[in-house]
Amino acid sequence: MASVVSNPELVNSKRGLVSRQLFMDPEIYQTELERVYARCWLYLGHESQVKEHGDYLSNYMGEDPIILWRDGHDRVRAYLNSCLHRGMKVCRTDAGSARSFTCSYHGWTYNAEGKLTGVPYFREAYFGELNREEWGLKEVPRVVNYGGFIFGCWDESAISLEEYLGDVRWYLDILIERPLGRLEVLPGMQRYKLPGNWKIQADNFAGDVYHVPFAHGSWGKTGMPIAGGVTIDNYATQKAYSFAFKHGHGALDMRLNDETYEADLVLAQQFGPETVDYIRESRERLLKRLSERQARIYTWGVGNLFPNFAVNNFSAFFPVGLYLWHPKGPDKSEVWQWCAVDSAAPAAVKEMARVGFTKVQSAGGFFGQDDSDNFEQVTEATRGVIGRRCWFNYQMGLGHEEDLQMEGYPGHVTHRMSEANQRNFYAYWSQLMERE
Ligand code: FES
Ligand SMILES: [Fe+2]
Repeated sequence: MASVVSNPELVNSKRGLVSRQLFMDPEIYQTELERVYARCWLYLGHESQVKEHGDYLSNYMGEDPIILWRDGHDRVRAYLNSCLHRGMKVCRTDAGSARSFTCSYHGWTYNAEGKLTGVPYFREAYFGELNREEWGLKEVPRVVNYGGFIFGCWDESAISLEEYLGDVRWYLDILIERPLGRLEVLPGMQRYKLPGNWKIQADNFAGDVYHVPFAHGSWGKTGMPIAGGVTIDNYATQKAYSFAFKHGHGALDMRLNDETYEADLVLAQQFGPETVDYIRESRERLLKRLSERQARIYTWGVGNLFPNFAVNNFSAFFPVGLYLWHPKGPDKSEVWQWCAVDSAAPAAVKEMARVGFTKVQSAGGFFGQDDSDNFEQVTEATRGVIGRRCWFNYQMGLGHEEDLQMEGYPGHVTHRMSEANQRNFYAYWSQLMERE
């Protein structure tokens, strides 16, 4: 295993080259489940999805299924969704509310504190001798809520979530603080299988401004804008910035000088004074709770939090889109996505956000289909004997990472059209993969 993983030629940051083995090799894949997914902080769900005692949702950490569950003491916990008897999933639904789960194989029962509370034929079959204390659900040792976003980590020795997110928090705080009510994930979700490695999606959301005008060119033909004042035609020349962060996180499409806010105000006029007031109050709230710079950004564009959690929000009229790129094999992944809105937003804003979510980055939407089609065929043309010997090229802007300097904006600002964020993503990936 070490022979493949410690090969420095897999990720050559200096030359901006990444081996195609990263996107199809089974050995690399197994190692990254261990060294990336079992070590990093992973997004598990939003607090609005587990509001009451017993509320739960199913998710994955790498390939391990988990249950995110609010216990009877109001603590949100996460457990491996696997019966300690012989491995059956104890929770077999996506989300709901339950005081306990009974395994469908032989009937062991667990409560929301993870305790094994019921064992059929405990006296007759086990002679009352099974130590139930020892056979509770396996719990994710670290679960932390950052502004409603709940993350978990299997590694007890890992750095804190705050340190792991680092400077990206400054931008994430804009999404957390802007709602006048609270950010609420709408019921339901979208899920689709994608025959391609999870990193293809993650690196795209971490920094791929370059593909938008071309891959999503069909959107331009509809005449619909991407966000206020931004169309496919003027997208590339927008005054917007990308930021690379420690630990592989990356964000793009950040407009810094009230451009998004002003476009939202114009749009709000169509819906009447209530909506105009809402947009104004949202900005004022940011000003009160955060800094003027953050208020002027007003939203955050697109970003990927390493390894596989992406968030986008182009305007108050767009939903906060939450995406997980779940690994399902060296060349397979599953996209899980949710849409969140401010609970206090006027009906017009909520409705536009809901429709926009379906229309844009979703299984049946314009952008989701464009991307999926590319990612699928990238994979097909990469895994062949000759294809896998080639490199992926991330050389855009190489050597120009230090060109821009911006005081007062955390993270490392990079050019709008650049692959600096992707190089940052793979540099951290490779750092993790080299650590035994
Ligand atoms: S596998 Fe769950 S009770 Fe046997
Ligand atoms: Fe895209």
